[in-house]
Amino acid sequence: MKQPTLWADAYWERFHEADEARRRQGAVHRETLPDGARAWVVYGHAAALEALHHPGLLRDADEIQRIMRRHLGPDVPLSGMFAKSAMLSDGADRQRLLAPLKAHLGPRMLRRLGPRVEEITAELLDGVDGYSGPVDLMREVAFPLPITVLAELLGLPETDRPQVRSWTSALMGHDQEASADAGAALTAYFQDVLAAKCHAPADDLVSTLVQARDAGDLDDAEIMGTLFLLIVAGHETTMNLIGNGTHALLTGGAWARLAQDSSLVDQAVNEVLRLDCSVRVTPHRYSATEVTIAGTTIPPGEIVLVSLGSANRDPERFGDDAHLLDIHRPDASSHLAFGHGARHCLGAPLARIEGAVVLRELTRRWPRAEPAPNLPNRREQAVFMSGWHTMWVQLEP
Ligand code: HEM
Repeated sequence: MKQPTLWADAYWERFHEADEARRRQGAVHRETLPDGARAWVVYGHAAALEALHHPGLLRDADEIQRIMRRHLGPDVPLSGMFAKSAMLSDGADRQRLLAPLKAHLGPRMLRRLGPRVEEITAELLDGVDGYSGPVDLMREVAFPLPITVLAELLGLPETDRPQVRSWTSALMGHDQEASADAGAALTAYFQDVLAAKCHAPADDLVSTLVQARDAGDLDDAEIMGTLFLLIVAGHETTMNLIGNGTHALLTGGAWARLAQDSSLVDQAVNEVLRLDCSVRVTPHRYSATEVTIAGTTIPPGEIVLVSLGSANRDPERFGDDAHLLDIHRPDASSHLAFGHGARHCLGAPLARIEGAVVLRELTRRWPRAEPAPNLPNRREQAVFMSGWHTMWVQLEP
């Protein structure tokens, strides 16, 4: 069968199969991204692990921007709003930028946030209880839960949260003008919150960022970059875990099984992260030296991306049924949905809690739920993130 061109319309209709076909042709390919930039993409589980641990593949916002300008011309904007954050830095800088996040994503905070995740989920699900028609779970649950939890983590006042949700929605949307406006509005809003926390610090992440700035550990641009990193890395990813998980359980025949036995939920979360991971392709790394991955040599100064989606469905790692959902799969936790090694996702424990609480509660309350007939859901067509625009479900108790 002829494989569709990468990122073309036909690719999105069966991108998992297309990625697997690419892997079978070789572990490392030089691809052209939709914006025209060239990048080396690593496919398959073993090669992904090699790349994620390779000391010659680094992250540095300035260097990545230089390479992108070489490919796309001098007008390429800075590497996103989170240029100055832990995500796009390395070494001592990265450790310095990560320190405030570690303080708030560790076990103490999770013990505090866990019960709040239960409460917020219950409120959202109460809100759709009794609907007679289909419910869009992306809109009603998957979107509001992670942004509300992030707002708690950051310490944003409750009254501001609806506005923050609406800016976040516009920021992540496809209307570029609305997204830029929302970015500017959020920047101004965060500046006000930072000023307020100077006068009234609390046990929250924004106060910790302010303290780090006062101690000379962070500058203003780094604080803003960190706040935007959290919105991008912590919100859309978790939203997609909930949407992709709901879809996988409903269409993969495991919804009723989970409804009968909620002790399977952590295992189910691992399996849906493996089968349909929110971050399909890792954010940019660059080759600081000549780097060899799975026998392919990549010259210095190149962009390298790792296809976590391909790694997680690699039949050589997970067997011939790697493309199917099996919530009893014994090695599901070997997925790479959160990356691996030194750069493993810092928010993974929080995301796991949110995914588990929502999937457990949805199946418990509505054990006979089904995909809504006549309301097809549309997938996002994005290189890095993988998720659904809508998730229409008929909720049946
Ligand atoms: C299902 C949800 C999530 C998924 C699938 C996910 C996935 C990832 C991946 C693939 C990476 C990059 C690994 C690499 O490039 O090697 C990453 C990094 C990161 N994630 Fe997550 N993430 C999720 C949720 C969260 C949440 C809830 C937060 C915070 C509240 C968060 C914070 C971060 C941070 C700070 C980094 C950068 C770590 C570093 O560079 O050291 N993530 N995540």
